[in-house]
Amino acid sequence: MQIKVFLVPIDKNTIIYCVEGLKMKVLIINGSPRIDGNTSIALNEMKKVFEKEGIEVEEVQIGQKAIKGCIACGFCHKNGRCVFDDEVNEVNAIFEDADGLIIASPVYYASANGTLISFLDRLFYSSNFDKTMKVGASVVVARRGGISATFDELNKYFTISGMPVASSQYWNRVHGRDKGEASEDAEGLQTMRTLAHNMSFLIKSIALGKERYGLPEKEKPQRKNFIR
Ligand SMILES: Cc1cc2nc3c(=O)[nH]c(=O)nc-3n(C[C@H](O)[C@H](O)[C@H](O)COP(=O)(O)O)c2cc1C
Repeated sequence: MQIKVFLVPIDKNTIIYCVEGLKMKVLIINGSPRIDGNTSIALNEMKKVFEKEGIEVEEVQIGQKAIKGCIACGFCHKNGRCVFDDEVNEVNAIFEDADGLIIASPVYYASANGTLISFLDRLFYSSNFDKTMKVGASVVVARRGGISATFDELNKYFTISGMPVASSQYWNRVHGRDKGEASEDAEGLQTMRTLAHNMSFLIKSIALGKERYGLPEKEKPQRKNFIR
């Protein structure tokens, strides 16, 4: 495949680079139960950047779904999908096809939304495709506290999966309590735009790197449980 790279000035402060010949896609998992809530405001700011960058976006909002937690039955080890045939298995296929994954959550009691955690435990545990070099980013929204703990909690899914984590000018947070308040957090929204630009750059660079060098060499995993 012939790949062409060219620079496109967007405004006086921004130049983006486009990669012709490769179609790239970001999957967003929005864990908020509130439709058009503050988490959506943060994500919409990122979506505008992805559109400019020529990166396709697919969003699933799961916060209002009845998502069971993992029951450790082992069905997925043999089948590559969860025994509960719900949204987790649907998103599994979209995730496999994506070059980047954004996980976004409102903070609940200094942690991520519980439905989202049930969803992510099952998604990451049951999917058996290689996630190496899919770019991850987490986005956290709160009135005030528990943001850092939640940010760390969500990033753990990427950092056990060989996924590089995109970062921004500040930790990826937006503040607001009532619906709509996040749109007043100018710094938070700027952090989202910067994150989306940085994530786009990483996704495109990795796509080029894969074409040229392939994925990193991998050893057969060693599984030791500290008992021998
Ligand atoms: C059950 C519950 C627990 C919450 N816990 C926290 C918290 O620990 N810290 C905080 O700053 N905000 C907390 N909040 C506020 C939400 O994080 C905040 O309203 C956020 O903007 C919601 O995002 P959304 O509009 O996308 O749902 C809590 C809200 C709820 C409903």
